[in-house]
Amino acid sequence: MNGKRILLVVGGGIAAYKSCELIRLIRKAGGSVRCVLTAGGSQFVTPMTLAALSEQPVHTSLWDLKDEVEMGHIQLSREADLVVVCPATADLMAKMAAGIADDLATTLLLATDKPVLAAPAMNVRMWRHDATVRNVARLRSDGVTILDPDEGEMACGEFGPGRLPEPEAILRAIETRLSVRAEPVEALSLSVPGEEKSGPSTGSGRTGGLIGKHVIVTAGPTHEPIDPVRVIANRSSGKQGFAIAEALAALGARVTLVAGPVALASPAGVERIDVETAREMDAAVEAALPADAAVLVAAVADWRVIPSPAKLKKAEGAPRLDWLANPDILAGLARSPLRPSLLVGFAAETGDVVNVAQAKRATKGCDWIVANDVSGDVMGGDRNRVHLITAAGVESWEEGEKSEVARQLADRIAAALGGRDANGPAAPDSAGEAR
Ligand code: CTP
Repeated sequence: MNGKRILLVVGGGIAAYKSCELIRLIRKAGGSVRCVLTAGGSQFVTPMTLAALSEQPVHTSLWDLKDEVEMGHIQLSREADLVVVCPATADLMAKMAAGIADDLATTLLLATDKPVLAAPAMNVRMWRHDATVRNVARLRSDGVTILDPDEGEMACGEFGPGRLPEPEAILRAIETRLSVRAEPVEALSLSVPGEEKSGPSTGSGRTGGLIGKHVIVTAGPTHEPIDPVRVIANRSSGKQGFAIAEALAALGARVTLVAGPVALASPAGVERIDVETAREMDAAVEAALPADAAVLVAAVADWRVIPSPAKLKKAEGAPRLDWLANPDILAGLARSPLRPSLLVGFAAETGDVVNVAQAKRATKGCDWIVANDVSGDVMGGDRNRVHLITAAGVESWEEGEKSEVARQLADRIAAALGGRDANGPAAPDSAGEAR
């Protein structure tokens, strides 16, 4: 690590003991560590242990006159090359997201002008709580690198994501964040809360290629009411769209996930807006603009009816439904003055998949279409085989888990928004043709 200086904030959780091993690994790799211990952290490890391992003074209080005279807290936060929060508790991340500075750790996190990396560790329910999901999304969009926790049995006896990643994985992430090593980070899990991790890794690593970018994703079906108890629906499970939202967030994007009615937990680090109807989805997408990219995966109902305010009764005979066209969200976005620079549609087809999708790309005015054949059990299933249709032509991807398809697509989006993809929006002829 070539003498890089790490300011390590040790939060208050049982995983605090692993920060001791992290100090050892950082120093072995050639870096130096100065520790800040929160009041909670000091319930699990002592300042003496951290001082002995780091061979540097340990800072615990904002109000320590001696410390403040020797090195003020502002300076402490700025003389490091990277600030690492490990373990990052739910409470610490909530304060970071809100900009609260009520102790030494949170004050220097607010005062720092250096990159920040956080390794969360907490109970699975705390990790999945909407408040934590919101805070993680906010911090990622603020540019903080948040590692995904490991999944497994926890100290509290429960099972799921929430365990601190192994110190070796945290060290690799630190090295990547400091860009002192060419290889990307592996071993950072990408799990949808409530679902098993699946699919092989692309090996491409989560290197934060979408930090600072905002991406809107739509997912799931829409429900169009017929009367107070009945709806027009479709078989979309939302799994592919949720996996894409998660993969984009894992690359550092601020993701707004507009979800139709689905039975899926929110992916970590994603801001989710639940809607029922196509018109609600349209309004939520519009409200989420501007965005750098939009990936419209939802199976939006093309038609709605004027719902009956009272339940339709069998005795009244077969109901007459008067159909009205729903807004086409994708086509509307393509025409919008706030059109995201990369617009990706999906086409679920049963016939001549590629040709139909190519035509759809042109009529909808999007840059890319991801086409798939839904004549099998793709809808609701965990696997998918897709074709990516761009201005440059058709790429047929290997069949894979939906999470794997999502990772590939997220990598392509990151490359395109970074201007490194000739098939992306950076190429003026492709975008022009798409519109
Ligand atoms: N889409 C949309 N709004 C709609 C319908 C579709 O945003 N009212 C988006 C979907 O999210 C998807 C793309 O358009 O990204 C293609 O959806 P699809 O249902 O295949 O297109 P349709 O125009 O409805 O064509 P079809 O006649 O095949 O149903």
